[in-house]
Amino acid sequence: MKLTVEPGGTLQGETAIPGDKSISHRALIISSLAKGPSRIEGFLQSEDCLATLKALQQIGVNITQHDTTLQIHGQGLHAFTPPTGVLDCGNSGTSMRLLAGMLSAQPFNSTLIGDESLSGRDMTRIVKPLQSMGAKITARQTGSKAVAPLLIEPSRGLQGIHYQTPIASAQVKSCLLLAGLYATGETVIEEKEASRDHTERMLQYLGGNLTSKNNVITLDPSCALMGKVITVPGDISSAAFFIAGASMTVGTHILLKGVGVNPTRMGLCHILRAMGANITLHNERLVGNEPVADIEVKGAPLKGITVPTDWVVSAIDEFPVLFVVAAAAKGETHFSGLGELRHKETDRIAMMANGLQKLGISLAILPDGIIIRGSKISGGIVDSGGDHRVAMAFAIAALKAMKPITILNAEHIATSFPSFCHIAHFLGLRLTEHSEEKSS
Ligand code: S3P
Repeated sequence: MKLTVEPGGTLQGETAIPGDKSISHRALIISSLAKGPSRIEGFLQSEDCLATLKALQQIGVNITQHDTTLQIHGQGLHAFTPPTGVLDCGNSGTSMRLLAGMLSAQPFNSTLIGDESLSGRDMTRIVKPLQSMGAKITARQTGSKAVAPLLIEPSRGLQGIHYQTPIASAQVKSCLLLAGLYATGETVIEEKEASRDHTERMLQYLGGNLTSKNNVITLDPSCALMGKVITVPGDISSAAFFIAGASMTVGTHILLKGVGVNPTRMGLCHILRAMGANITLHNERLVGNEPVADIEVKGAPLKGITVPTDWVVSAIDEFPVLFVVAAAAKGETHFSGLGELRHKETDRIAMMANGLQKLGISLAILPDGIIIRGSKISGGIVDSGGDHRVAMAFAIAALKAMKPITILNAEHIATSFPSFCHIAHFLGLRLTEHSEEKSS
């Protein structure tokens, strides 16, 4: 699918944002590990989360779905059945890494596969520590990287470990904590910087015995998890496209209701505010152990900054759209410490740099970052490379463009935000979807 967005305009209005992707995955997995019924409200029906749902059904979890409400009939840690086939995680790194953690402790074989992008992503970061817990997990080796398919066989039992994560990764941390639920002894994870803590919050919410202090997380597996009602907040990483688009467009005024504002996800707002954005949180509350608020954004003139590296981890998924904001801001924005961006659904530094240059933006690519000089955004054709966040970021760029922007491979938006075009249109983005065959 191709997406063409007309240039200019402002964003206006009030809307809710669909459920958080990370929390939807965790709600599914952790309520499947709990005892008793859980109800998940506000579940994100995106391709990634549906891959997790299907994999859990393939190992015998009883899940019923009515739109965004799911009923999970959890039977505790030990009631899963051998999978009905290979478990296909599609494009979803979160599905593969989190499921690998719990599957490493099961008394049956399982195989996790993914699409071309996911099959190129490094799984060494979970394979090694899982093996040191005693898991029998193997991967395909390409050079120094272990990649999918992952083959998991029954082990003789897992032992808790004390592990310092070499990179701040919530997927790695969550994988090990889920394996740790089955281990003998405590599992302790130390992070240099705090990655998103949704797994920790949800394990606590469902009765797990977990403490977290100064980036050291300690899980004692002795407490059983109990099913509950889990309300998934709106995804700040989806809201991010509109928060960024609104921030950079004078005359805009939007209110995004019920969005997750977990401090480990707030890097976008910190960076935008430092650039001059006018963002206000209203009605801050705690929903199912997650902070939630309504986010009001008014357009303001933005200036380039040097982005503090301290904010990188809590903005990790937001850099594609932040690069667009930098292109629209006055002056230069310097981004560094972004090495992890090269290991996402695409190499997001390269993919964004390529598209921005096609739109007339001058920039310098660094090994772990980019310097972007704000100027007029021209218009033209850019490729998302099959990366959902790259596609949505370029759609937002049209707000400040002089000519239409056409985004190729935009169907991948459904990975995380299937209703993006609908909500973007409602807020004022003028977009048209067309099939790539028809119009090429
Ligand atoms: C996620 C963690 C992040 C993030 C991804 C979702 C999660 O990845 O980029 O979109 O749900 O745990 P890393 O943990 O690999 O940084």
